[in-house]
Amino acid sequence: MNWLRRSSSEPLWKEEFSIRTADERYVTRRQLTKFLVLTSFGMFVGNLWILLRSLFYKTTAYPQQRVARLGEIPVGGVKLFTYPTQNDHCILVRIAEHEHVSYSQKCTHLSCAVYYSQESNRLECPCHKGFFSIADGSVLQGPPSRPLPRIVLERRGDELIAVDVKVS
Ligand code: FES
Repeated sequence: MNWLRRSSSEPLWKEEFSIRTADERYVTRRQLTKFLVLTSFGMFVGNLWILLRSLFYKTTAYPQQRVARLGEIPVGGVKLFTYPTQNDHCILVRIAEHEHVSYSQKCTHLSCAVYYSQESNRLECPCHKGFFSIADGSVLQGPPSRPLPRIVLERRGDELIAVDVKVS
């Protein structure tokens, strides 16, 4: 009847479980290796996905839209239009006989509409006195920290066509 006798004073159920409670949190070398391999594989797959996405990512294609005819506005004059959608207001300025520039009209500070000041030859935002260069849309003064997005124009015959938006 020795086989019926228990070897210790612990309850029977504890003897039948081979793992001790104190060892349950102990991470074996095999578990650590498995964890590291899986984590590395996950990071590899993530990086591969980012790489493939950057290779095949297509930049936004902007529509081509007629903005104005040459000579339609006088030197120093402006024309307002929307591009690329009806909600994106833009301003076209004829700054010289053969030179036009165009920018988004939305101030990069808090989105007020900028206007062209012929006296100071710059784009001005009336809300917080933010001033932008007419040459490149860069910030001259005020709270805006980013330049105005520039509308890329192409001359085709006697027409100016908006073809792209450059955000810097
Ligand atoms: S919204 Fe234009 S300067 Fe603040």
